[in-house]
Formats: sequence, C-alpha cells, structure tokens
Amino acid sequence: MAKPYIEPPAVDSTTVFKDDIFRGKVLFCTGGGSGICKAMTQAVIKHGASAAIVGRKLDRLEASAKELSTATGNQCIAVQADVRNPKQLQDAVAKTIEKYGRIDFVICGAAGNFLAPISKLSENGFRTVIEIDTIGTYNTIKATLPHIRASKGSYIHVSATLHYRATPYQVHVSAAKAAVDAISAVLAVEEGPQGVRSNVIAPGPIAGTEGMDRLSAKGPQGSQYSIHSPVGRDGSVQDIANATVFLFSPAARYITGQTLAVDGASEHLRTLQ
Ligand code: HXC
Repeated sequence: MAKPYIEPPAVDSTTVFKDDIFRGKVLFCTGGGSGICKAMTQAVIKHGASAAIVGRKLDRLEASAKELSTATGNQCIAVQADVRNPKQLQDAVAKTIEKYGRIDFVICGAAGNFLAPISKLSENGFRTVIEIDTIGTYNTIKATLPHIRASKGSYIHVSATLHYRATPYQVHVSAAKAAVDAISAVLAVEEGPQGVRSNVIAPGPIAGTEGMDRLSAKGPQGSQYSIHSPVGRDGSVQDIANATVFLFSPAARYITGQTLAVDGASEHLRTLQ
C-alpha cells in the first residue's frame, strides 16, 4: 500500500514562540556557516539572540553571517576556527566574549562525513572524523564551559540516528556520534548542579543539506530514505531549527541529558519484508 505523502509543514518557530524569548542572549555555534547549523542559528537569532558562527572557511562564514543578520535584523559575526584546534577555539570564544560579553547557548555542530567501507577507510580517515565530531565537541565544551556556567546556559549537540543500528560505510561517523551522545549525557549530569543543561538533537534524513546530498541517492519524494519514512518525507532544516528553539527555551528547563531524534519516527520503523 502506498504511503500517504504529507507536505512539509511551513511552520516557522516565530509562529509558535514569542519573538523576543532570546533577547539579550548569545549563541556560539560551530558549523554554523551552512546547512542544518546555519538554520539553527537563524532560528535562535530570529527570537532576539546575537550569534557567533564558527568554522574553517572564513569566506563562507562571513557571507552566512551577513545573510543571517540581514534576514533577522539581529547581530551575527563570523569567527574562523577549526574545532580540532583547542587554541583556535579558545580564541574564537575570546572574540565572541569581546564582542558580546557573554555566551548563553552553544551548538556543537561542526562535523565531517563521507561514505567509506571499513576495508577501504584509512586510519587517517577514521581519525579525521573522530577528531572533527568527537574531539571537536570536547574542545568546544572546554572552551565555552566557564561562560555557560556563568550564564547558566545550555548546550545542543548535533548528532545523528545512523548509529542506533549498523549503517554501512559509516563506521567513522557512527563511532564519533555515539561518543558525542555520551559526552552530552555526562555533561548534563556533571553540570546540572551548576544550572547548565546539555541535550542532543539527532536529525534523521534532512533534505537539502550537504550531508544528504553526498550520502544519499535521490528518491521520488526526496532522498532514498523518504520512501521508508513513516511520515512519507525527508525532514527540513526548519524542523531541526524548531526543535532547537524549544530546547534552548525556558519551556525545556527540566529537559537535560536527553537525545531528541527529529526524524519522523524513521528509526522506529520496521518494515515487513
Ligand atoms: C575515503 C576519505 C574520503 C572519502 C576523505 N578521506 N574523504 N576516505 N573516502 N570520500 C580521507 C582522506 O583520504 C584522508 O586520509 C582523511 O580522510 C582526511 O582527509 P582530508 O581531506 O585531508 O581531511 P580534511 O580536509 O580535514 O576534511 C575532512 C573531511 C571532509 C571530513 C574528510 O569531508 C570535510 O571536511 N567535509 C566537510 C564537512 C562535511 O562533510 N559536512 C557534512 C557533514 S554531514 P588519508 O589516509 O588519505 O590521509 C554529517 C551528518 C551525518 O555529519 C549523518 C548523515 C545521515
């Protein structure tokens, strides 16, 4: 039986949450120059926050920062840093503090990915993804934690769902994201008494992102995964952005140490063969 196709809802978080819930707050987002993390940043600053987006490619970051400021009327700066380099991250945090004086929200979103079977994946290839995703998350936490403690702020780590089961050609990312999930949970437990929250958003197949374009063949309604989606479609970056606004908002003040899969229930589905 054909699955019903449900159009992506045109829901923007500003139609649900008040415009100014993040007024005076500051977001530090690694990987914010493109894709999912750029949309997450846009949503947070739409609600009144200022932001620093952090990444390796300064040209792309500066263009994105300008675009985000123009689209929202709020401040966004571009700061160059490779998350694998603790010193560069500390400098990026210092620049953010110099500009805004505080950091309330951190998105650990910088990630690397490509398809490769274990038999062909080099040691350096495996290590590179672990260094960007896992060590990069650790480095970002270490550089920002004193400021997040001071503001009683909140972390969101961008993970994945592919490591819930065995995804071929993704051993490096699966290992890296499983570690990210664990880091977030421990951070939530250790820093809860300081008023710090830490959660994971695990996007399922999200349309129009670099990751999906490179990792997935196209199907009739989006990626090949949309055929197996209970809701009949890929997610959109806006779906992830909306979850971000909720998790950073005071409405989620008792939610910490959790992983929120935003995947249209794809990971729960078992199809009958
Ligand atoms: C096999 C590969 C490879 C490939 C790189 N390597 N691409 N091996 N197949 N397609 C190997 C290289 O040969 C090298 O090992 C090692 O990885 C490091 O590669 P470099 O290019 O030197 O590293 P670097 O320039 O730091 O680039 C990092 C990267 C790159 C991860 C390899 O792809 C990257 O930065 N991509 C941009 C970010 C990105 O991918 N974003 C999408 C994330 S999506 P040797 O042995 O040759 O030295 C995502 C979502 C996951 O994470 C969930 C999806 C459903």
